[in-house]
Amino acid sequence: MRVDRFLSNLPCFNRKQVRLLLAEKRVRLDGKIVSDPHAEVREFSRVEVDNEVLQVGKPVRHFMLHKPPGCVSATRDPQHPTVLDLIHEPDKDELHIAGRLDFNTTGLMLITNDGSWSRRLTQPQTKLPKVYWVETEQAIAPEYALKFAEGMYFAFEDLTTLPADLLVLGPTSARLSIVEGRYHQVKRMFGHFNNKVLRLHREKMGPLVLDPLLKPGEYRPLSDEEIQLI
Ligand code: URA
Repeated sequence: MRVDRFLSNLPCFNRKQVRLLLAEKRVRLDGKIVSDPHAEVREFSRVEVDNEVLQVGKPVRHFMLHKPPGCVSATRDPQHPTVLDLIHEPDKDELHIAGRLDFNTTGLMLITNDGSWSRRLTQPQTKLPKVYWVETEQAIAPEYALKFAEGMYFAFEDLTTLPADLLVLGPTSARLSIVEGRYHQVKRMFGHFNNKVLRLHREKMGPLVLDPLLKPGEYRPLSDEEIQLI
């Protein structure tokens, strides 16, 4: 059924309101804004107006995985095992990763079929802190924290990173909180000081914390409370 008809069949909107909602880009179909009144709503499409879900669509699924080292944050890879290989669920091809990690980075990884949920989690505008435990080759000097808090210029993207918070835990270990997810961001930040990151582990994404009961390679569904946090 056309999206304009679907909406005006609901008791809450008349046709004029539906035209306006579409023109004001307040309607989402399967997580994407639609303004075309002919867009097709199917039995399993998700329909949202503003942030209100009018049709749920397919059951949403959310998982937390403890990513081990040596696997790729991708759904497919010709050479290496992927994080999706660790998930044993039906309809795996519908799942995607919310916030990738490098091949040898470990820790919290979120996997879902819910596009609007993962967008809220990863889009830079929401500025959700991602917390990493870092071990480096050289000693971490006090000036790092200042530089990270100031923001760092990344010439390749021609941007300055948003302020990041560094807590030094030992001579070569620290906890770093960043609100973006630029390509190899943490390694490049330490790389500015010619200090190589030897181990990197994501502990948190916003309010979601890696479950300490999960061993590397294990996963579990998120609870309803955890899903609602995002
Ligand atoms: N920053 C990195 O450099 N690597 C990751 O895997 C995550 C953040």
